[in-house]
Amino acid sequence: MIPYGHQNIDQTDIKEVIKVLRSDWLTQGPKVFEFEKALAEYCGVKYAVAVNNGTAALHLAYLAAGLKAGDEVITAPNTFAATSNMLLTAGAKPVFCDIRLDTYNIDEAKIEKLISGKTRVIAPVDFSGQPCALDQIKKIAKKYKLTVVEDACHALGAKYKNKKIGSLSDMTVFSFHPVKSITTGEGGAVLTNSKKYCEKLKLLRNHGMYKDKYNKNVMIALGHNYRLADIQAALGVSQLKRLDSFIKKRRQVVEWYKRELRDVKEIILPEEIKDNYSAWHIYVIRTVNLKERDRLAEYLKNKGVAVNFHYPAVYAQPYYRKNGYKAVKLENEEIYQASCLTLPCYAGLTEKQVKFISGLIKKYFKIYKNKLFENKESRGLIMGERVYLRKLTPADASNDYCAWLNDKEVNKYLETRKCTLAELKKYLKEKSSKIDCLLVGIFDKKNDSHIGNIKLEPIDRREKKAVYGILIGDKNYWGKGIGEEATKLIIAHAFKKLGLTSLELGVISQNKKAVKLYKKLKFKIKKIEKRAINHNGVFYDKIIMSIKK
Ligand SMILES: Cc1ncc(COP(=O)(O)O)c(C=O)c1O
Repeated sequence: MIPYGHQNIDQTDIKEVIKVLRSDWLTQGPKVFEFEKALAEYCGVKYAVAVNNGTAALHLAYLAAGLKAGDEVITAPNTFAATSNMLLTAGAKPVFCDIRLDTYNIDEAKIEKLISGKTRVIAPVDFSGQPCALDQIKKIAKKYKLTVVEDACHALGAKYKNKKIGSLSDMTVFSFHPVKSITTGEGGAVLTNSKKYCEKLKLLRNHGMYKDKYNKNVMIALGHNYRLADIQAALGVSQLKRLDSFIKKRRQVVEWYKRELRDVKEIILPEEIKDNYSAWHIYVIRTVNLKERDRLAEYLKNKGVAVNFHYPAVYAQPYYRKNGYKAVKLENEEIYQASCLTLPCYAGLTEKQVKFISGLIKKYFKIYKNKLFENKESRGLIMGERVYLRKLTPADASNDYCAWLNDKEVNKYLETRKCTLAELKKYLKEKSSKIDCLLVGIFDKKNDSHIGNIKLEPIDRREKKAVYGILIGDKNYWGKGIGEEATKLIIAHAFKKLGLTSLELGVISQNKKAVKLYKKLKFKIKKIEKRAINHNGVFYDKIIMSIKK
């Protein structure tokens, strides 16, 4: 099985850890302080406070920010639950802000309207290793006097506008879990330029105690034991020396994926936007068709690729649904969480493995397409008495086809459009590569001329249904029963070959002839959508009809 993430440990790492094991000091001591110093230097920040995991680091950062019961914190739903779990632990209320659909990070443009009198902190998450729009977020924080606690657990080694992540927010949190940029087994840290925060973090990670001049423990706050061990810090110091090379390798993996997968139209690859240098903690693709995600994941898992899902929306987790987040639904996040799929990405992944994984993805979509649309008996044709149907390709774009699309009488019930040959080609290319669309041409058997189209889109394979549309373009064929014949052919194809169990269509209420025809073909009226069709500024009712197998 190829894992989705993996640590990279070499002999030097092992030697460094053994040295500590042979020393007198195992728990927080000189190695932890050395690690903190190296980490702060690497990120260009004054202080680093190491703790035993990223979750503890978040908890301490929230406490150091002074969060208390009733305070609100604006954060992202696309994260590991710890980001907001620790807010709840600190007594605060997470307020989820929708994400952007390019970086999958918090949408900075939607933050301000979520700010209330109770808001104290903004907690953005640098998802997948790509920094958030930190300038804009900090500007909002300054305007409303809020603290920024940046969850950069994915982003050690990343840069924003050429500055290292870790140096830019009031406090920045890292994790050193084995799948992260570097590892200490388990581990985490909070980085800050504020002495005040640093002192509070150090106090709280150690039971809220400090040593007085007689070396006595004095407890002045309710703290925790969140200390990192020197054994772990030794690994951290050693790993940190190779951090830049790890990030370079991850970036190389991403380039391989881009090269291999850029032509697969059925998936959306993640993009690195202008201001960012991503640490590529994870490589998350999305399926264009949301329904396709789980099947592709199953397919890859069965072939030995351990894909993952980062992340189900935090607000949709059962615990959150039961505890005050029952109705939360954010538009982009909903699309994202239903379509995301994490492919393996780590420093040790080879080009051969990336080719193998990408090859499987390409194969998956081909298999799927063939299964759905191939009509072996007639070599891709669906034969009727007077017409045949076949899948359209960009090569079918012709002047005649263009002319009937542009004919006002023909496109009377379509959205009016003026269509050039180039646009038509583009349209056909797009439709023929979509996995949830079957666009077929209706051809006269006698002279092979293209006289109209039928479209099934979207095809919902899970629900086994599709939306049907037809257009007889060549006016010479109007009133001759061609539409009826072609519709019967596609219904049979949809139910027998594609395994669908229902088809739905929408017809403008004015088109009485069509409604009559569909009734004859056993379509039933499901509902009428009032004024749903806007035709040159005039609104018409849309009659929704459906037929079941
Ligand atoms: C975004 C984010 N925040 C917080 C954490 C928690 O870190 P840790 O596992 O070190 O506790 C993780 C870990 O996966 C994470 O990905």
